[in-house]
Amino acid sequence: MAPEIDESMSTKQVPVPGPGILDIAPYIGGDAKLEGFERPIRLASNESALGPSPKAIAAYRALAGDIHRYPDGAAEELRHALGEHHDLDPARIVCGAGSDELIGLLLRAYAGPDTEVLYSRHGFLMYPIGAMSVGATPVAAPERDLTVDVDAILARVTPRTRMVFIANPNNPTGTYLSATEMARLHAGLPGNVLLAIDAAYAEFVNRNDYEPGIKLVDAADNVVMLRTFSKIFALAGLRLGWGYFPPAIADVLNRVRGPFNVSAAALAAGVAALNDTEALAKARSHNDRWQPWLNERLAALGLAPTPSVGNFVLPRFSETGKHTADTAFAFLQRHGILTRRMSGYGLPDRIRITVGTGEENERVAATLAEFMAS
Ligand SMILES: Cc1ncc(COP(=O)(O)O)c(C=O)c1O
Repeated sequence: MAPEIDESMSTKQVPVPGPGILDIAPYIGGDAKLEGFERPIRLASNESALGPSPKAIAAYRALAGDIHRYPDGAAEELRHALGEHHDLDPARIVCGAGSDELIGLLLRAYAGPDTEVLYSRHGFLMYPIGAMSVGATPVAAPERDLTVDVDAILARVTPRTRMVFIANPNNPTGTYLSATEMARLHAGLPGNVLLAIDAAYAEFVNRNDYEPGIKLVDAADNVVMLRTFSKIFALAGLRLGWGYFPPAIADVLNRVRGPFNVSAAALAAGVAALNDTEALAKARSHNDRWQPWLNERLAALGLAPTPSVGNFVLPRFSETGKHTADTAFAFLQRHGILTRRMSGYGLPDRIRITVGTGEENERVAATLAEFMAS
């Protein structure tokens, strides 16, 4: 007997997402698990090697009895602590569930269909993903020596451009723009184009010509600076970011964000982490010691790492033959070490390795030496 055809099926209506949404390739985070290893060495997501401040952990735990309460939606204490720490007006700070949320909120407020969002070719993937999720067109400007090329970005500004996202330093390349170059980029942008400087790794940088973006935000109405507690403060699991904005943009974000977008646990741990200057100094000096150490080891193996100023390195492997990035990634995995593949960033001959503890760094360097000798 022929199956009965439900006539209503052919005309059935289904929800359809907005334009461009189904073209998004979902963001793939770093692996956390590795079969056969109970505690793999996790160097895939640029989390700080030393873990969070014990004071942040204590503040998080102390909150347990109060989690039935809504958090302070204005993030008053954290914004004031940030204001004091960085000498900023707390009224111009807005906090988010990770800086990812702030990237999304800025795009929602300032971009949309028929607009373009500029970023650099090997820039952080959440910029094109976020742009597409609001129906905007992401436009990638080529880089020079895996570094943001200011002229290439400026050459791609059109009447449709609404935002430019620059990670400084950039993830995954680790390279950075000097304060002078960033100012030159800003000077070349029309006033209606918003420049978002994403300084997620600012605390790791120890270069005299670097500035995280505060000075530019103070000097202009179309610049914002984004920061995170996920990296040097090692609170990635709690999701806490913040930004420093011109007053009009802070006002816009406070209109579009959820009223309780940052959890009470994140707020409490963030304040405690910020007040633990000793833990911060320790994390910074750990990276000052081990990042150059790791980069030198990789260079000695002929792996031409970029001159990274972040807490990660980006060695380059052969495009063909035995020693490709894919075979290196797999070899490290077989030795219990998780790193990050870079094909999604248009860098198929690279892997990104986060600076770990001293022991982890020695393990990864020795394992790669073994790989290159194999
Ligand atoms: C450049 C850059 N911006 C933003 C983020 C997101 O940070 P968060 O954990 O605060 O959302 C990352 C995380 O990898 C990053 O590398």
